[in-house]
Amino acid sequence: MNNNLLNVNIAGLQLGNPTALASGILGYTGDIMQAVAENGAGAVVTKSVGVNPRMGYANPTVVQAKSGLINAMGLPNPGINEYIEEIKYAKSILQVPLIVSVYGYSADEYALAAKKAAAAGADAVELNVSCPHVKYTGSEIGGNPKLLRDVVCKVKAEMNKPVIVKLSPNVTDIVELADVAAKAGADALTVINTVRAMAIDVETTLPVLTNIRGGLSGPAIKPIALRCVYDISECVKTPIMGCGGITDWRDAVEFLLAGASAVQIGTAIAMEAPSVFQDINCGLTDYLKRKGYRSVNELVGKSHRA
Ligand SMILES: Cc1cc2nc3c(=O)[nH]c(=O)nc-3n(C[C@H](O)[C@H](O)[C@H](O)COP(=O)(O)O)c2cc1C
Repeated sequence: MNNNLLNVNIAGLQLGNPTALASGILGYTGDIMQAVAENGAGAVVTKSVGVNPRMGYANPTVVQAKSGLINAMGLPNPGINEYIEEIKYAKSILQVPLIVSVYGYSADEYALAAKKAAAAGADAVELNVSCPHVKYTGSEIGGNPKLLRDVVCKVKAEMNKPVIVKLSPNVTDIVELADVAAKAGADALTVINTVRAMAIDVETTLPVLTNIRGGLSGPAIKPIALRCVYDISECVKTPIMGCGGITDWRDAVEFLLAGASAVQIGTAIAMEAPSVFQDINCGLTDYLKRKGYRSVNELVGKSHRA
């Protein structure tokens, strides 16, 4: 859906509406991302890709919880050199901004993957400094202010496309880390990645996931994600993409009111359907009209009392 009411600009990216596909859910191929865009997503984020290919963990890698999913996929990806062809193809067919998610084990690796993604046509990169289940990357970098600063500075120094930093909730003070990312030059923040979690099979008496620990997503984490967005938007001026448990237009409105300029959706696509984007956009449009707003941007941060 593309009407004036829903247009947003975040990190210099022009979106027809404030919804985007979150990383890791259906974001593998250009064709699938195009199908998601046809279902109403205003932008798409790819699965995270690194400098070298990774197998990921053995199954089971996903388990259903009462109100969401716990996953420890282990960042399976073909490596940036092979993925470049998919980025080029995706860019050639997509009408919405293409954000490529990258990860690395050092600032140099993040910068190399980001540079290659940008050269292949990515409109922006999202730095996955928040994956909770792979050692020496993800939240081990994003949870450490010095490493986080180095990664963001290095990536910013080496490319001229927008850099979005995706933060982890599995830290003592997410606002401090948001501030570090902002001061290092992040053009936007994605808030949040999954919450560390696990499940145990009472029959086998063992953890369900091969990796034991994974990340919880879906409705169970929505109040946590919302609180993170609110806290960050109180202190940091960098635009936010809210993410975590969004399943309908009311959830989306809550995130906008908390301070997000746009929202990303993942688990709801798997647990509901890709039409969730269209449903949210219709609900948002009706809400804006009913309340007399002229733009979705008027909602951003409105829940913060003066
Ligand atoms: C199966 C699965 C795979 C994911 N893979 C990635 C990934 O590769 N990179 C990343 O930054 N986030 C990844 N995520 C996290 C999502 O992008 C999102 O931050 C999280 O699931 C919360 O949003 P949701 O509740 O709408 O799913 C993954 C989530 C799931 C469920």
